[in-house]
Amino acid sequence: MGDLSHDKKYSENDNYYGPSSSKLINEVDKYLKPGSKILDLGAGQGKNSIYLAEKGYEVIAVDSSIEGMSYLERIANERDLNIKTIVGDISDPKFLKNLGGNYDAILLMNVIKFLGGKGFENTMYYARNALREGGYHFVETHISQNPKKRKEVFDIKGHNHLLPGELKKLYSDWIVQHYLEGRTNPEKHSNGPIHTHDFANIIAQK
Ligand SMILES: C[S@@+](CC[C@H](N)C(=O)[O-])C[C@H]1O[C@@H](n2cnc3c(N)ncnc32)[C@H](O)[C@@H]1O
Repeated sequence: MGDLSHDKKYSENDNYYGPSSSKLINEVDKYLKPGSKILDLGAGQGKNSIYLAEKGYEVIAVDSSIEGMSYLERIANERDLNIKTIVGDISDPKFLKNLGGNYDAILLMNVIKFLGGKGFENTMYYARNALREGGYHFVETHISQNPKKRKEVFDIKGHNHLLPGELKKLYSDWIVQHYLEGRTNPEKHSNGPIHTHDFANIIAQK
């Protein structure tokens, strides 16, 4: 069952990763029609799902954290939002098969770093195929300046960081509508340390 380290974080904090949606997700309106069906993979406590459902999209949110999904379900019920929550491992092909396809957009927001090797391949394979032709991926992930030419660069916590340029290369056969690499502003999650990290994000059209 995927990464379970988030259950404790979510049980102790509402909005562990902040209450507001990521900047990249604020761009969704430029690409999607109202009512479009969006799959949020590794949705966490659902900050992006909530933002999108409030804009009138139909959202299916998936995460391995029961705490994250129950929090999101509570908010969705309280605010009467069109969000379906599902608990499961997005690196497991058997689980992914049940999520169906033909989505207008799929989000992979800061979840790739928890997926390594075959798991990462499984998720990307599913996410590419579960999108309708002309649909969009919105992806953000940590990158590492490590010059080693390995496919995966794991940091000290065992997190999978992509190399600079690698995220864009994954979408070389799609239309890249937006691509950015940079460093985050200083951030802090709950009572953890203030930190920054290098990131890449992309909006790619199939
Ligand atoms: C850094 S959080 C990002 C949450 C949200 N996407 C956001 O941008 O705020 C990463 C999330 O991915 C989830 N996750 C990690 N590995 C997973 C897996 N194999 N299957 C499903 N969810 C996973 C974690 O439980 C966590 O909620």
